[in-house]
Amino acid sequence: MGVCLSARIKAESPYNTGVSSKYVSTDGNDSSGSCSKVSSFSVPPTPRSEGEILQSTNLRSFTFSEIKMATRNFRPDSVLGEGGFGSVFKGWIDEHSFTATKPGTGMVIAVKRLNQDGFQGHKEWLAEVNYLGQLHHPNLVKLIGYCLEDEQRLLIYEFMPRGSLENHLFRRGSYFQPLSWILRLKVALGAAKGLAFLHSAETSVIYRDFKTSNVLLDSNYNAKLSDFGLAKDGPTGDKSHVSTRVMGTYGYAAPEYLATGHLTAKSDIYSFGVVLLEMLSGRRVVDKNRPSGEHSLVEWAKPYLANKRKVFRILDNRLEGQYSMEAACKAATLAFRCLSIEAKYRPNMDEVVMVLEQLQDSKDTTGTQSNRTNGSRVRRQSAGDAISGKTPTPYPRPSVSLHA
Ligand SMILES: Nc1ncnc2c1ncn2[C@@H]1O[C@H](COP(=O)(O)OP(=O)(O)OP(=O)(O)O)[C@@H](O)[C@H]1O
Ligand SMILES: [Mg+2]
Repeated sequence: MGVCLSARIKAESPYNTGVSSKYVSTDGNDSSGSCSKVSSFSVPPTPRSEGEILQSTNLRSFTFSEIKMATRNFRPDSVLGEGGFGSVFKGWIDEHSFTATKPGTGMVIAVKRLNQDGFQGHKEWLAEVNYLGQLHHPNLVKLIGYCLEDEQRLLIYEFMPRGSLENHLFRRGSYFQPLSWILRLKVALGAAKGLAFLHSAETSVIYRDFKTSNVLLDSNYNAKLSDFGLAKDGPTGDKSHVSTRVMGTYGYAAPEYLATGHLTAKSDIYSFGVVLLEMLSGRRVVDKNRPSGEHSLVEWAKPYLANKRKVFRILDNRLEGQYSMEAACKAATLAFRCLSIEAKYRPNMDEVVMVLEQLQDSKDTTGTQSNRTNGSRVRRQSAGDAISGKTPTPYPRPSVSLHA
């Protein structure tokens, strides 16, 4: 089993296309199943070939010149971001005809342009078309179409005006104000619903790349998962896992997956726990700029997560005063469970969704919560305050600053 550790772990065997683990013959490492499809599978069977994948979707096929026009020839000032796959550009198309329009008119799109040569890039491009061409859910980003022309590989998505969760959590600047507690809960719940949909019996897909940069936000902070290049069909029949080369992003991959290459939905749960912890702490999963002992967020935070008296030490001090102790403990406990070393102790995504919904509801019932969002300091009385009989005070007030 090859394990490749880098910032982004991406080097799968060329024999295993990752597009359809159920149908592709592999080098023997992939035990995800041969040709059997579970009967409850409501998503159309994953097609075998590139031609079948492209034909079977309702996605629009764009020409390269159309995309050039829509993005004003990939103008550098329209770059929305860069990733391992390539650059992402902003563009405009007519919402009915899908033809390029003048900037500022029609529908805004995001265009991802593959800039790397070779098999891996094409494979991820095809996996994205395959999965997002078939799977539709309010918490998955909408793929509008693609372009495949000569060496050009592009993907055309709905535009997500607030960009990625990563930017909101970690970018400093006037545009990216710290996300409030309420919004963090909302984003966590939206992303959890997207993962729960993928893991559901009908869909049974393992996402494999859950991280803050792949959670995109619309204008109302609804979270949508993007990037299905590494997604895999879940195990079928009596198989307990899918066996693959280790792929993903360092820090987010589950320990047992890193060690064995055995992939299950519980690997995604671990990654969800990492992201939840990043949201609670405002810290990156790996940060070499922190003092030694704090480079690995998970290792540093774990002892505090399960300790009601100490949990405030890991919470983002930009959230100060916005949450109750009870809610913070509940969220921290959820992260702790998702990060269990033993996969069987991790909750499933339905349970994660339930806990996050309860957290949101408890916020609604306090009655003192304002809807102010970014950077606002909101005080609300919690059940914990009432039980302790103390006069509510903004909680927590860490005695030391956690952030440089
Ligand atoms: N549909 C979209 N709407 C708006 N912005 C987007 C959209 N898709 C991507 N972006 C922006 O482009 C950036 C790069 O995205 P991309 O998925 O290529 O890489 P990444 O997720 O940041 O990194 P990696 O390649 O390691 O997964 C994102 O972080 C986001 O800011
Ligand atoms: Mg991404």
